[in-house]
Amino acid sequence: MYVCTCNAVTEREVRQAITEGARTNAQLRQRLDAKRVCGSCDDCLEEYLAEASEEQYEIPTPFVFPAPCLTNGAG
Ligand code: FES
Repeated sequence: MYVCTCNAVTEREVRQAITEGARTNAQLRQRLDAKRVCGSCDDCLEEYLAEASEEQYEIPTPFVFPAPCLTNGAG
């Protein structure tokens, strides 16, 4: 699916650019060699960046070892 039709940039290419370090709209455009022509993809690019940012700062679920009282019957 094309995200930026003016530059024929696909969703896959946008995600790859973010994975490789693009963190702003300008960085994305630079990495993708996608000049701002009509600007109608700006909001969409921002959404991809926001989504990636949320994923980056998502708090991982800590691995919790089972309590000893649940594994050896002691308690
Ligand atoms: S759709 Fe991206 S600049 Fe026009």
